[in-house]
Amino acid sequence: MKIFEKLETLAYRNIVVPLQGRTTFNFVNEHYNKGMKVLDFGCGTGSNSKLFNPEDYIGSEVDSSRVESSGKKYPKYKFEKIPIINSSKDKLPWADNSFDMIFVSLCLHHINAGSCKHIFKEFRRVLKSNGKILGIEPALIDGKYFSNILMNILDAGDYILPINKYKNMYKSESFTTTHINVVKIFGYNLWQYSSVATDEEPTKFENGKTQIRKITKPIHLLGLYGKWVVLIFLGYKLIDLLINMFGSM
Ligand SMILES: C[S@@+](CC[C@H](N)C(=O)[O-])C[C@H]1O[C@@H](n2cnc3c(N)ncnc32)[C@H](O)[C@@H]1O
Repeated sequence: MKIFEKLETLAYRNIVVPLQGRTTFNFVNEHYNKGMKVLDFGCGTGSNSKLFNPEDYIGSEVDSSRVESSGKKYPKYKFEKIPIINSSKDKLPWADNSFDMIFVSLCLHHINAGSCKHIFKEFRRVLKSNGKILGIEPALIDGKYFSNILMNILDAGDYILPINKYKNMYKSESFTTTHINVVKIFGYNLWQYSSVATDEEPTKFENGKTQIRKITKPIHLLGLYGKWVVLIFLGYKLIDLLINMFGSM
């Protein structure tokens, strides 16, 4: 499946990121000042590094091929491979109180709430006491049936949640979350928020996929691989046609 993953990364970098660009830029600009130490958690292809000063920024990724390609594309910035955090034994490779901001964009909806709890514990540890999390996630919005279903068909993430459920997930590790905005891009409703650590009692959070995802997952998988097979086939047919047209001249 490596070839399909590479094609997905290519499409992500060249279609999704540019479409989202301006709104993410505005959002980050309102909260980030030069000199703030920033951890970009789940930095993917590294495209968001450009929003920050190279001296302030560390991009972190569980996927080593993305760490390598980000480093090549954005040589002024630092990218690090991190372990998958699934239990209290798993740690981020930074000391306590290292960052003023953790930027987490389009990442949590790939991770179940149980693992998010452990990740948030680590966020609390590596954030300075006055630090904050700045986040963007696709969110299910009441009454927006078309977007809710479309996101679940297009997206690889199994955990696109309603805003309240994301908030509860943060609350389960005593973070309080401020709603900032919902921006609509490419049929997606992207929720922008900030979270800070508090001394409040942690609450319980229920794990698992939404009903929509349970139903749309097979359609998502069919589309995920099917579209590339169809595009490769059409490309082959086009080349064949051109060779037949011009080869006989
Ligand atoms: C859709 S990409 C988002 C990339 C980037 N943050 C952006 O906004 O363009 C999601 C990223 O989350 C990473 N990811 C998935 N599961 C993860 C986990 N358990 N811990 C950390 N990162 C994870 C993936 O490797 C992927 O690069």
